[in-house]
Amino acid sequence: MRSSAMRDLMAITARPEVISFAGGLPDTSTFPPSTFASITQLIAEESCASALQYGPTEGFDETKRCIADVMAEEGMRADPEDLLVTTGGQQVIDLVAKTFVDPGDVVICEAPTYPGAVPVFSSYEADVVQIEMDADGMRIDLLEETLDRLDAEGRRPKFVYTVPTFQNPAGVTLSAPRRKRLVEIARERELLVLEDNPYGLLRYEGEPLAPLRALDGGVYVLYLGTFSKILAPGIRLGWVAAPGPVLAKIQLGKQAADLCTSSLTQQFVERYFAEGRWRAYVHEQCTLYRRRRDAMLDALAEFFPPQADWTQPEGGLFIWVTLPEFIDTEDLLAKALREENVAFVPGSAAYVDGRGGSSMRLNFSAASDDEIVEGIRRIGKVVSEQISLYGTLSRTEHGARPASGSAGLRKDEQRESSPAPDEAGLADVVQFPRRSGERRGAQGS
Ligand SMILES: Cc1ncc(COP(=O)(O)O)c(C=O)c1O
Repeated sequence: MRSSAMRDLMAITARPEVISFAGGLPDTSTFPPSTFASITQLIAEESCASALQYGPTEGFDETKRCIADVMAEEGMRADPEDLLVTTGGQQVIDLVAKTFVDPGDVVICEAPTYPGAVPVFSSYEADVVQIEMDADGMRIDLLEETLDRLDAEGRRPKFVYTVPTFQNPAGVTLSAPRRKRLVEIARERELLVLEDNPYGLLRYEGEPLAPLRALDGGVYVLYLGTFSKILAPGIRLGWVAAPGPVLAKIQLGKQAADLCTSSLTQQFVERYFAEGRWRAYVHEQCTLYRRRRDAMLDALAEFFPPQADWTQPEGGLFIWVTLPEFIDTEDLLAKALREENVAFVPGSAAYVDGRGGSSMRLNFSAASDDEIVEGIRRIGKVVSEQISLYGTLSRTEHGARPASGSAGLRKDEQRESSPAPDEAGLADVVQFPRRSGERRGAQGS
């Protein structure tokens, strides 16, 4: 078993003096306490005993109706018999792996992948194969090459795990043509796909894209949803939509894991949905997170050195930053925490094989605008110091000085002097597009 880098980090970053961009936290302070109070009051008065009782392993029908509403909002149809209510979306990843993976089986996922999936796959001893991404999400051409190679070796992946929309950690979205092709590949090769979609409704610009499940009709695509980012992670409610025979196996796994999902929080969701404000709340969250995303993109443009690249998410909670390869973001995190009280997730947490060492994931939903600007300024400072240090050391080593005499490497000089990622075999240095230089207006503020 491997420890989850993120869970370890949460302990340190909980210190009040730390500005943390490390968690994947939605801003729960926006949930009205009066709504919380009225819902729990109603439960106390009308259904206290059943809220405190065990429930069916597959979840309550009323909860499934709420889930069907959420899925319909994203263009999917789900019948109650297609659904199993889980203890968060995280449990779906665990149960699907538990159901399908024997030690040594291949699981395919993106590079980088959701850091919380890494310890799950490693605990079932999966052989994880990661497929590179670009600004349009997973490279489906590379996926096909990989599937052919595995096929030639007589190895059949158990499933492809993907976060196609506003990916955690990279923030990128799988394009419409790639979605179509992925679903075709699944059908052609009879390959299961686990679509993990916590962020689909958190879109800040652009047109929604059909989820993989909507394209495939739920034949090869298993779908993971969660209330964590559209309501609150503290209620620990997620779900899986899957074909009947698969769902039956997953249900056996869940019986063994925790018998059933909390009756209390399922009732909370049912009553919350009955109030009819859930869409308005998601809309408010989108307005808030759009503003924070823009604040972070602007701060990155202002405070990060020109050698850094970062993604421009149209939704979700994360920006992925790629730094020059000589920077180790685990070391950088130690320095940032120790000297500047600021935290992020080092990119290596999103890989199974130690790659991603010069990248970082930044979360923009949980900090205030002021904290975002200050935190990015502090990280920019430590990054710039590392780059200057490297420049000084490499000049000393090679006895050469840049003509300009400036401390840091210029972006162009660096690009010229270092080999392209492919030439160097550095598959982890994903070249996501850099945000254009102009400052964004304060949208939504
Ligand atoms: C891609 C992805 N999948 C699953 C989860 C797990 O979410 P939860 O268990 O809170 O539903 C997260 C949480 O951040 C996530 O980002």
